[in-house]
Amino acid sequence: MTIKIGKKPIEASQLLPREAYYSEEWFRREQEHLFSKVWTFACSMDELSEPGDYVCLQVGKYPMVVLHDREGQLHALHNICRHRGSILLQGRGNLKGGILCPYHRWTYARDGKLRGVPQEKELFSEKLDKCTLSLKKGALGNFRNLIFIHPQEQPSETFDEFLGDLPQHSWPAKTEELKVLTCTAWEMNCNWKTFVENAQDGYHLSHLHKSTLMGPSTGRQEWQPRGRHWHWKGLDPIMSTAMEKMSSIEKAKAGLSALMSGWKPLPGVDVDSYGGEVFGIFPNFAIQPLLDNVGFAKIIPVSPNKTLLEVFIMVAPWSSESEKAKRLKFLADFAPLPGVGYAKDGDPNIRDRPLRLKDITGHPMESGNFHVEDVWQVEMIAEAIESPAFEIGPLSNGEGETALSYFQQMLLDYLQREEGGLNEQAKSYTA
Ligand code: FES
Ligand SMILES: [Fe+2]
Repeated sequence: MTIKIGKKPIEASQLLPREAYYSEEWFRREQEHLFSKVWTFACSMDELSEPGDYVCLQVGKYPMVVLHDREGQLHALHNICRHRGSILLQGRGNLKGGILCPYHRWTYARDGKLRGVPQEKELFSEKLDKCTLSLKKGALGNFRNLIFIHPQEQPSETFDEFLGDLPQHSWPAKTEELKVLTCTAWEMNCNWKTFVENAQDGYHLSHLHKSTLMGPSTGRQEWQPRGRHWHWKGLDPIMSTAMEKMSSIEKAKAGLSALMSGWKPLPGVDVDSYGGEVFGIFPNFAIQPLLDNVGFAKIIPVSPNKTLLEVFIMVAPWSSESEKAKRLKFLADFAPLPGVGYAKDGDPNIRDRPLRLKDITGHPMESGNFHVEDVWQVEMIAEAIESPAFEIGPLSNGEGETALSYFQQMLLDYLQREEGGLNEQAKSYTA
């Protein structure tokens, strides 16, 4: 079976061998030929809004940093000192001055230019040509205030080529005007692809999540390829469907809480008709625009069988801390993504302290939280996958599991293009 870019497969089939989900060799191939060569989501513009703001991230084999300089420009730089190669910055934060290497204190301006070398005259035989020792540059792309970076300064695939026709089908809410309300993380014992495929699986929504999401069934959802990416839509309006599923006590509680929190939908979103969407940005980023917030999930491969899920949620700007607290409370109580972390200590920002399934008390299926159900499920697949008896059976067609085949084909195309020269499909895409 050949799946072409932009063409939705009618029938699903498993294209990757099972080793792809646990072997060191596959992990190495993906790090080298996919994650080191594809555009990667870094952060929202909101996290880089002030001069000096920076966010570090690993892009395949490359430690990188995105940085807001004094003049308001953003830079994607390799986070490696040009002297002996120390990492320069860590995590995220705000720089008051330039970039200082801790090892021998070489200093760089925020645009990466080398500024100072201690004991330069005394210890270096010739005057250093500082212009040749700037931090190496990557490339930067901005899609609706979501910042993506690429380790090459001139990538063979431009950012527009990477996006494909996604911008023509983009979501209604203006992410440009939103602010990050909460960031959380999960550490999962599974391969990153097992989690991505679970997110694209329309078949399980009304089964695994029978008592949480309660659907939609495969007849009430659809997905379409957008370039190499995946775009899912629910066909029933979220609001009225949620109301139908709530008891009258739950409705009253939700109504009161909405009133107290000053709940309103995001501008541009039609509450009566919006059925919800998910955009899976190949290979490992997802966007979930909802009625009053937009959720973003980054699925980070840590090892063949460990994956970090970072989630952040953006909402319309708040005018006071108490308004922010009310929004958080409402989100924690009623959003379709509760427990992506808010439950713990009420701390909305636990991205640096990832949750694990073992932190959950009680059985995951009794958590009342579809996200916990998903983590439980993907870890169970990971537990089974190395058994010689493991085999993937028939996949469901239509809106069920065809998206898995599409994702697998895009991955294979990428690996083949990078490893073995351009294959025919990749050639037609980049032509
Ligand atoms: S490694 Fe950075 S100054 Fe020496
Ligand atoms: Fe799920």
